[in-house]
Amino acid sequence: MQYVQEKAGIQIILALKGFSMFSVFPLVAKYLKGTTSSSLHEAMLGYEEFGGEVHAYSPAYRDDEFPQYLSICDHISFNSLNQFEKFYPLVCKSGRKIHCGLRINPEYSTVETDLYNPCVPGSRLGTRAATLPPTLPDGISFLHSHNLCESDSFALEQTLENIERLFGHYLPHISLLNLGGGHLMTREGYDVEHLIATLIKFKSRYPNLQITLEPGSAVAWQTGVLVATVLDIVDAQGIMVAILDTSISAHMPDVIEMPYKPVIRGANSTPQEGDIIYRMGGQTCLAGDFVGDYGFQKPLNIGDKVIFEDMMHYTMVKTTTFNGINLPHIGIWGQEGFYRHVKSFGYHDFKNRLS
Ligand SMILES: Cc1ncc(COP(=O)(O)O)c(C=O)c1O
Repeated sequence: MQYVQEKAGIQIILALKGFSMFSVFPLVAKYLKGTTSSSLHEAMLGYEEFGGEVHAYSPAYRDDEFPQYLSICDHISFNSLNQFEKFYPLVCKSGRKIHCGLRINPEYSTVETDLYNPCVPGSRLGTRAATLPPTLPDGISFLHSHNLCESDSFALEQTLENIERLFGHYLPHISLLNLGGGHLMTREGYDVEHLIATLIKFKSRYPNLQITLEPGSAVAWQTGVLVATVLDIVDAQGIMVAILDTSISAHMPDVIEMPYKPVIRGANSTPQEGDIIYRMGGQTCLAGDFVGDYGFQKPLNIGDKVIFEDMMHYTMVKTTTFNGINLPHIGIWGQEGFYRHVKSFGYHDFKNRLS
């Protein structure tokens, strides 16, 4: 990432939604210029623990939270002109130099899973070119696009073509283009030189533009595992299920949501001839809390460790409060109509579940 920043003359910030393990922020902050957040709590975490630039984007900001963004953020991206117009007067009043941007929908994505495709028809994320006026309102100094997921540099090249085709007339009048996340430049085989060449070529046409990328996954790709222990092995009508002291549903929800089959160290994800086959079951009571089947070379035993590979990005943050979105209040409604507030959650609940 450092090499890309230097060679292409761009800047990279960390998307906290993908990786928020703040005990290692001092290391990451040696290279990346700041953070981007999807909620007030993430913005607070980036400000408190990472330093550098603090960017924020949310599909919609809450009236009660927005003033707090103003004291810690230097870049705020709005999802619609409506939101920009509503909050821009507060930005002006804040007395701080805050760059305001608009998230656009480039109407192009290579992402095949709809759950992860911000350009899926009917998407609520980003403003489409057709709905914008010929010039951007005063106060918008950058555009923000996020349309990729675990993608290569060729998808970015095509994204840039679409941005130029749909939004090209705005580009000479802004100072920053944020190209979002989804650039998996740390994956083996990613064509880093093509990425650099693509960015340099684009920048040569718009020397006025600072380019920012905000990957999450790429920062923590292949950097950590989740280790589970086999608590029991049951024969479920001929299927051997290892019951683990973890849960697919509670600890690896992406596996079910996406869905995908995580790699287990030393096991074949597609069982081969002669393998001993086990399904991996979670410790919750949810019938669907399992992932499998895997082929092992020798029988599993109670007490064995099962190592799920590459669980640092998205897995850790999804077992906390995803995107830093606060948990709902808990209260009791009585039949007589009273409401007793029992508990509210806040920034410290979010932060204390991270590390
Ligand atoms: C606006 C925005 N920026 C950045 C990212 C980070 O993407 P990734 O972790 O795929 O690099 C996301 C992911 O959802 C996002 O929604």
